Amino acid sequence: MKLTYYGHGCFAVEIAGKTVLFDPFITGNPLAGNIDVNKIGADYIFISHGHGDHIADLISIAKRTGATCVAGYEIANWLMKEGIEKVHPMNYGSPVSFDFGKVRGVNAIHSSSFPDGTYAGNPLGFLFTTARGNFYYSGDTALTLDMQLIPAWAKLDFAVLPIGGNFTMDPADAIIAAGFTKCSKVVGVHYNTFDIIAIDTDKAVSDFATAGKELLLPAIGETVEI
Ligand code: NI
Ligand code: MN
Repeated sequence: MKLTYYGHGCFAVEIAGKTVLFDPFITGNPLAGNIDVNKIGADYIFISHGHGDHIADLISIAKRTGATCVAGYEIANWLMKEGIEKVHPMNYGSPVSFDFGKVRGVNAIHSSSFPDGTYAGNPLGFLFTTARGNFYYSGDTALTLDMQLIPAWAKLDFAVLPIGGNFTMDPADAIIAAGFTKCSKVVGVHYNTFDIIAIDTDKAVSDFATAGKELLLPAIGETVEI
């Protein structure tokens, strides 16, 4: 699979010819000035929760691309009210089938409201199981024992985890999460966008290596084969 990082919690994975985009936040990201939001493609957009740093460019990309938006029930309802026609609501529960594979909504220890403060349901993480490989995007979350369920469902090829701390896991907790999920390859996201989530990336990479794990930190706009 190919993964393209767009900064913060936004990335896309190519699966079986489909582009699956996550948590679009380009406008307002001071580090993503090199990304043209109007050139980002998507067949699907998965939204972990309603915070502005995960949905800022959601409506515009969804309208331009005609992508199917997949999110928790409350965010799905909001998208339909915003005029997005292809919406798939889900929640914590069983795997949901799409044409690229299956996705399960899993627990995330966070909060979820829209930028205007209204309720956006529970935050979700997503576990993807496909013929091309399996991966877990935790969304914004603290470390949680529920991550130990992931290997009961799938053997991961990689995980995408927040490492910026303050609102989410920091690198030390993400190393523990990699252990809980039995995953040796982690793509770190949700760091350095703002001062409050700034980290020492060299130390994070070496701490992962010491723990026998690989931390990938693609540059914003970079595509990696994973
Ligand atoms: Ni958040
Ligand atoms: Mn966030």
